[in-house]
Amino acid sequence: MPQCRKCKCCLNPDTNLCYRKEFGKYNEVLADNTTRFTCKGKPVHNFSNTSTFTEYTVVDEISVVKIKQNAPLDKVCLIGCGFATGYGSAVKIAKVKPGSTCAVFGLGGVGLSVIIGCKVAGASRIIAIDINSDKFAKAKEFGATDFINPKDYDRPIDEVLTEMTEDGVDYAFEVTGNTGVMTSALKSTHFGYGKTVIVGVPLSSATMTFDPMLILTGRVLTGGAFGGIIFSS
Ligand SMILES: NC(=O)c1ccc[n+]([C@@H]2O[C@H](COP(=O)([O-])OP(=O)(O)OC[C@H]3O[C@@H](n4cnc5c(N)ncnc54)[C@H](O)[C@@H]3O)[C@@H](O)[C@H]2O)c1
Ligand SMILES: [Zn+2]
Repeated sequence: MPQCRKCKCCLNPDTNLCYRKEFGKYNEVLADNTTRFTCKGKPVHNFSNTSTFTEYTVVDEISVVKIKQNAPLDKVCLIGCGFATGYGSAVKIAKVKPGSTCAVFGLGGVGLSVIIGCKVAGASRIIAIDINSDKFAKAKEFGATDFINPKDYDRPIDEVLTEMTEDGVDYAFEVTGNTGVMTSALKSTHFGYGKTVIVGVPLSSATMTFDPMLILTGRVLTGGAFGGIIFSS
């Protein structure tokens, strides 16, 4: 995430958002409102204001991070946003506690990285959920302990999870971008303290509906961009 290091958000260590690059506006242009890429004469926007998988790119000054002087250049490389997003969602946003039970909905690269974060944080049970059972082997490799394919059940998956975990999980991570799954994740958390983290990006027109009693009874619903991680020079 770009950081101007001066705005109200940049001065608050609880967020990695910045006023100069409001995540969610999806305008994907540089600070001067231009993009330097074109394809067949048409403008191509800068993905996440960086587009760093190109051989050459132009980015705003606030998107640049200086690497350490002694970093071994044969090992330094660019990685996609997936790992930082998933890992940070577990460790920094949810702040998963040792011995807890986590449910991860969606086992793509980001969901698998959530699993790694939950494991590193010491979760004792990590329930991996996906409509594609082929995803379970990798999830197991990364530390998932239980596997659920919603297609194998004829009742809502939050009911299945609530039953499996004595009234709900401690942390639920939504990593598909589907608003129905977001509600299921929320409903699968324990009353009083269960925390749900929205990681998946919904369609821009999507809205989420749920019974406010779920929140009134102490569940927490939160989310974050790129795992809330702040890169600093
Ligand atoms: N918050 C952020 O900063 C951030 C950053 C990167 C990616 N994302 C978002 O994270 C999400 C996941 O990214 P990815 O690259 O891992 O995607 P992916 O497409 O590789 O994985 C999504 C997984 O969800 C599963 N799935 C789909 N519908 C489901 C359902 N109803 N129930 C259970 N599982 C279901 C799919 O089978 C798939 O395995 C996307 O929405 C992406 O836009 C968010
Ligand atoms: Zn800022």
